[in-house]
Amino acid sequence: MNKPKVTVVGAGFVGATTAQRLVEKDIANVVLIDIVEGLPQGKALDMMESAPVEGFSCTIKGTNDYADTKDSDVIVITAGLARKPGMTRDDLLLKNAEIVGGVVTQVAPHSPKAIIVIVSNPLDVMTFLAWKKSGFPSARVFGMAGELDSARCAYFVAEALGCKPSDVEAMVLGGHGDEMVPVEQHTKVKGKPITELLPKDKIEAINQRTRNGGAEIVAFLKTGSAFYAPSSSVVRMVRSILEDRKEVIPSCVYLTGQYGIKDVYCGVPAKLGRNGVEAVVELSITDAQKEALKISAEHVRENCSKLSL
Ligand code: NAI
Ligand code: 2OP
Repeated sequence: MNKPKVTVVGAGFVGATTAQRLVEKDIANVVLIDIVEGLPQGKALDMMESAPVEGFSCTIKGTNDYADTKDSDVIVITAGLARKPGMTRDDLLLKNAEIVGGVVTQVAPHSPKAIIVIVSNPLDVMTFLAWKKSGFPSARVFGMAGELDSARCAYFVAEALGCKPSDVEAMVLGGHGDEMVPVEQHTKVKGKPITELLPKDKIEAINQRTRNGGAEIVAFLKTGSAFYAPSSSVVRMVRSILEDRKEVIPSCVYLTGQYGIKDVYCGVPAKLGRNGVEAVVELSITDAQKEALKISAEHVRENCSKLSL
């Protein structure tokens, strides 16, 4: 089928579920690649055997060979270790830097025009690393986190108000860590800000639960981290890119002065289309939110400096 080609690196929970969503929605033909022999092949074959039942036409190929990823339109990188209880995302830094650095060096030369979407944690630092290692323009290297954090926040708002989750549009800025910045005046239900719908203490509780959203799931699962909402978030980004939808999606992008922040990757709303990040949207935020965003970005910068790139 003449569809775009997406490579998903890492056939674990996030990677395999992302691949599944991409083919089931007939968005792209997928190459699923992992370092473990047999894992991507087995999952890919299993998914293809669901095609007659699910009715999709896109294909998925499992492989351990980067030659199969040639000429991908989008590369999603989920390879790496996931959090265990008690671990922060930053605890994964050095190990995942080695993995993600190695993956980018192998995958980028086969698809020099691709757009790279990073998922591996710590997300903002891995995105910076991928940008450096790929040599691609920053508009073609960005990360998924803000969409997930915003989706979690939106779900908590819907739960509090008893409304449909899809009626809520939330906005969470900043790095994908404890210092992320939920922006309540831009979190809306059918266009109405939640500041007009919920009391302050309830909003603060939702914000705190959002900051803790990843850890909440890890505490339940014990042996891994979230993957259903993360894969949905990746697929929304990939679809906006491939179908040139130009949706404004909170994403981890390279900032060049927007929000008063420069030369660092951080989560902000970005217009995503066929050229990657086509614009950064600057929302009006309070001075306190601006300050919180700067603190979050500085935390990312500090961790990036540990990689001596
Ligand atoms: P997982 O452990 O299920 O899968 C990771 C996969 O990467 C494994 O199949 C492993 O064999 C593979 N892998 C390891 N080294 C590799 C290499 N050098 N080349 C190719 N493949 C390699 O983990 P899961 O749950 O899929 O999470 C993946 C990553 O995504 C983690 O770092 C996790 O923290 C992160 N994550 C980030 C989110 C975000 O919002 N940005 C949300 C959820 C997870
Ligand atoms: C999450 O937020 C672990 O970063 C991952 O679920």
